[in-house]
Amino acid sequence: MKNAVQTFPIFDVLTLRRDFPILHQQVHGNLLAFLDTAASSQRPMQVIECLRDYYSRCHANVHRGVYKLSEEATLAYERSRGKVAHLIGAASPREVIFTRNATEAINLVAYAWGSANVREGDRILLTMMEHHSNIVPWQMLAQRVGAHLDYVRFDGEGRLVLEDLDHLLTERTKMVAVVHQSNALGTVNPVPEIARRAHEVGALMLVDGAQSVPHMPVNVQELGCDFLAASGHKMCGPTGIGFLWGQRHILDAMPPFLGGGSMIKVVETDTSTYADVPVRFEAGTPAIAEAIALGTAIDYLNGVGLEKIHHYEHELTAYALDRLGQVGGVTIHGPHTVEARGGTLIFTMEGIHPHDIASILDGEGIAVRAGHHCTQLLHRVLGVPATTRASFYLYNIPEEVDRLVAGLEKVKKLLE
Ligand code: ALA
Repeated sequence: MKNAVQTFPIFDVLTLRRDFPILHQQVHGNLLAFLDTAASSQRPMQVIECLRDYYSRCHANVHRGVYKLSEEATLAYERSRGKVAHLIGAASPREVIFTRNATEAINLVAYAWGSANVREGDRILLTMMEHHSNIVPWQMLAQRVGAHLDYVRFDGEGRLVLEDLDHLLTERTKMVAVVHQSNALGTVNPVPEIARRAHEVGALMLVDGAQSVPHMPVNVQELGCDFLAASGHKMCGPTGIGFLWGQRHILDAMPPFLGGGSMIKVVETDTSTYADVPVRFEAGTPAIAEAIALGTAIDYLNGVGLEKIHHYEHELTAYALDRLGQVGGVTIHGPHTVEARGGTLIFTMEGIHPHDIASILDGEGIAVRAGHHCTQLLHRVLGVPATTRASFYLYNIPEEVDRLVAGLEKVKKLLE
């Protein structure tokens, strides 16, 4: 594989790595091997420079000023909305709402859409592999209105048991909320099929795209969903910025989430009328610099090519599955073939706690995540409280997989 990656001209990963200054530092005397992109990606100089340039040259509040700086900031902010829309195949930038992250985007839907559309006795369908951000907001809604939650199971290979839809999808199901690519198992779920089934019973479909949008071409028309949520910090953008995409007619009919400046038309003493979408859902001064830099991150990803990134990560993941599979005592949870998954691998080592594994790897300069990865239900199904997770992105190289494997051999030597 080492040779395959070096000679297969997907893109020049070694040149690309030069764009990411953070990757060139030593940690505990070793070159950093950053294998925790599923938690948060690193960002290239272009994005860091965009933030510096914005604050040095053109910061002003957006949608408020009639002076040049404010107009320029507004233009750049709205241009970024257009880049998000284009990236995911939205019909219009007006269908894109900037939020703090995917979590806030899902909370927005659960609160604003949910409060207006979900009633006592209604049902919300989730899966057992959801991140807490796609469980807890729905629990809060269900508790508020007296609705119920149902869960689709996953099998021993980490794939959803789609037969569960046969009895769990009913005319009382109002929302089906499913992760596109699992942040733990790495499974890529068949969203178009689930969306079709959801629509057959009149339910809407929300897709948690936090782990898919950064890693593969994602098109909301092809997915056939009604909402898509994603985070900027997992796709080379800044923290504090993410987005919600929704079908225009659904967003138009939704009441606001947060109240405040910008999101109103007329304010009276007792009531107010609300601005049109998307501004209705962007109360207060937004994360302007972050939104603009997210646009730069999207330019960067498009420059490399999402299709190529996806392909490269598949190569790297196939290599990692193969190498990790050869380390005695390591169990990889999730699909064992790359076709059904992305570049996020969770594993356990017999008799060794994931925190000990992560600590020893840290000593080698290798950053992985240990714990339940905000997926306690998923870990309950696996029957373990915690796993170790390695996750890959466009800047990772096969040598880092080799170092991970060598690190795990060292873990075994020290702790077995
Ligand atoms: N959602 C992030 C993760 O999976 C934080 O680690």
